[in-house]
Amino acid sequence: MSRDPILVVSELSKSFGAIRAVDAVSFEVERGEILGIAGPNGSGKSALFNAITRVPFSPSQGVVLFDGAPIHRLPANKIAKRGVARTIQRESVFAELSAIDNALVTIEQTKRARRLDQKVALAERAPEIVGFPATLHKWKAGTLPVSLRKLVMIASALALDPLVLLLDEPASSLTVEEIERMRLLIVALQRRGTTILLVEHLLSLLMAVWDRLLVLDQRRMIAMGPLADVVKDLVVIETYLGPPHDRAAVGTALTLGRVRADRGVQRDRSAAGAGRIHRVFPPQRAWQIHAEENEQRCAVALGSVEIQDSQLA
Ligand SMILES: Nc1ncnc2c1ncn2[C@@H]1O[C@H](COP(=O)(O)OP(=O)(O)OP(=O)(O)O)[C@@H](O)[C@H]1O
Ligand SMILES: [Mg+2]
Repeated sequence: MSRDPILVVSELSKSFGAIRAVDAVSFEVERGEILGIAGPNGSGKSALFNAITRVPFSPSQGVVLFDGAPIHRLPANKIAKRGVARTIQRESVFAELSAIDNALVTIEQTKRARRLDQKVALAERAPEIVGFPATLHKWKAGTLPVSLRKLVMIASALALDPLVLLLDEPASSLTVEEIERMRLLIVALQRRGTTILLVEHLLSLLMAVWDRLLVLDQRRMIAMGPLADVVKDLVVIETYLGPPHDRAAVGTALTLGRVRADRGVQRDRSAAGAGRIHRVFPPQRAWQIHAEENEQRCAVALGSVEIQDSQLA
């Protein structure tokens, strides 16, 4: 139980008719922590962020307390103005505007400042905080590479001066060097006092920054706690690696390159069918490989696993 929660989510649900996107999820976020959120594709990670921020949809049921006060019925811009900002999974920027003007839009929306010079000063600071190159300040955001568009989006969120920042897969589509820069940025934001909820498939990034991990599966929360406890949790192992009788196949699939988790069971039938079996190991070993070979070219992600053949020789 958190002692000083800045965000309390209770029994939060979102339904679209018979479809559940978030199913009675409850957790608390401590002030200043980085809470990692993991789960297979479609497990409800983004929908959880949507329901908390009401962008683009509101929760069907449940309560969200921010700093002790309910926010789940406030309009989305008021939630943002109070101090809960988010980024979107697919980087979303105003393509025709520069990085500074993107931040200015946020500032205008939430009326953080009255005078134009104050607004511009705030807008100029935001890209600087995220390390956006000053030489590109005037470029249209739509012409920037993906890593910089992600920075523009984070800068726009930071222009709100949020106490809580929800980052939805900030490292997707980035190179190894860009992921490292993203890690440094996330750690720097936490040091500035921002509480962070971080949805990520990339376990190497999550492991490097999180304080606790929340795991979703099929729109429900299945585990929450420190990393060491969560990855040992049998339910979590089964969600990612399948039931016991599938595990030899899973171990094989893990050696064959990228494997996506689909409804909680990891298999790569096509790769396995091609017969390119390099090595078989039990699923627990998959977790260990990450720890042992993290410094090498091995990246193991929750829900997606990438292992270079050379590491397995
Ligand atoms: N607007 C919507 N209308 C109907 N169903 C939706 C909507 N948004 C989400 N869902 C459903 O809710 C479930 C959770 O989706 P969500 O996008 O949150 O998954 P996710 O964990 O973020 O997946 P990924 O890792 O692929 O980003 C999915 O089954 C999805 O189809
Ligand atoms: Mg998502």
